[in-house]
Amino acid sequence: MSMFNTDIVEKLEAIPTPFYYYDLRILNQTLNAIQQEVQGLPYLVHYAIKANTNTKVLEQIHSAGFGVDCVSGNEINCALNHGFKANQIAFAGVGKSDSEIKFGLEKGIFTFNIESIPELLVVNDLAKSMGKIAPIAIRFNPNINAKTHHYITTGLEENKFGINFWELDSLFEFLRKLDNVNLLGLHFHIGSQITDMSVFKSLCNRVNELQKLFKEKSFAIQHINVGGGLGVNYHEPDMDAIPDFKTFFSVFKQFLDLQQGQELHFELGRSIVAQCASLMSRVLYVKEGIKTNFVILDAGMTELIRPALYQSYHKVENISKQKQESNLKYDVVGPICESSDCFGKAILMPHTERNDLIAIRSTGAYGEVMASSYNLRDKVKAIYHDEI
Ligand code: LLP
Repeated sequence: MSMFNTDIVEKLEAIPTPFYYYDLRILNQTLNAIQQEVQGLPYLVHYAIKANTNTKVLEQIHSAGFGVDCVSGNEINCALNHGFKANQIAFAGVGKSDSEIKFGLEKGIFTFNIESIPELLVVNDLAKSMGKIAPIAIRFNPNINAKTHHYITTGLEENKFGINFWELDSLFEFLRKLDNVNLLGLHFHIGSQITDMSVFKSLCNRVNELQKLFKEKSFAIQHINVGGGLGVNYHEPDMDAIPDFKTFFSVFKQFLDLQQGQELHFELGRSIVAQCASLMSRVLYVKEGIKTNFVILDAGMTELIRPALYQSYHKVENISKQKQESNLKYDVVGPICESSDCFGKAILMPHTERNDLIAIRSTGAYGEVMASSYNLRDKVKAIYHDEI
């Protein structure tokens, strides 16, 4: 059953499109589900803020007591402005600029997740110049195939992320020599929208191997950070609104050998926020083509770039005509002057007409936050369930 009942549709139809419609009750249930799984365990979840920086979303995540994973100085600033404490902030990213590093040092963030040896040296130098010691975790590239879209795979040797295992000896040498960094943790992130849980099991095995090597060299490690990546069900957002956190966390419980006193950290983005929003759009025109009919929407790749960029699937629903059978095929496209501005081809929908309201589902993650002003489009608005 769709989350859009007649009552909600009537209210949504009165609102000018396009806009993101947030149902923060879903976010709340998601956060509760995570808390239930991690309670009593030495687990800490940092929300990967890059997935969505909407103020109400952040307020809710903050009040649930999560930490935050940032990848830019502006994300750190945004997190601080939303009440996250500096010591709840992990800072990742392959290209941290000097001013971003200094900003993190000034604010006293929890950790810099170091992605290369040259970065390690720069962080050490900048910390020294400020009379500080930078708390660091080393991000490793575990060379594991996340079995997801190649643009969102990050843990293979051919990817730009993290330090490779073959650089270990030189890393150990630097870690001993450098006085202005303090090694706290080991960090990993192998990709996004991962649905095959055996991938996380492989990650655990790699972490265990690496832990042994650090132990042999007498480096004490306080936390292991396994990143994010848990996928969501884009095909059945109503049936599966809350991701299967139980199975996800149980893989780590079962296969990752945490040592005495160690914490296990996670950086979940998509799985926390994807299902709490839909992009709402109106049909501007239905245009007959030679092989297909086009439904042209007033939202496009400027509001939601995922389909154009990763050929990703989002369920498209004509919520004005829910009672009718979906037996016609349409290519659903946006108004932007690019052929890739397409939300889906041969999508089954009921007979669709101008002004019908279309919901593009599961767009809470990497949706609003990746919007652009290309074609000088207006900034996309956000509407919340308790406002309509
Ligand atoms: N930690 C690190 C270091 C990351 O790079 C990411 C995502 C995450 C955590 C959160 O991963 P998640 O739990 O959301 O899978 N724009 C793409 C996704 C890019 C993900 C980048 N890194 C998309 O729309 O699919």
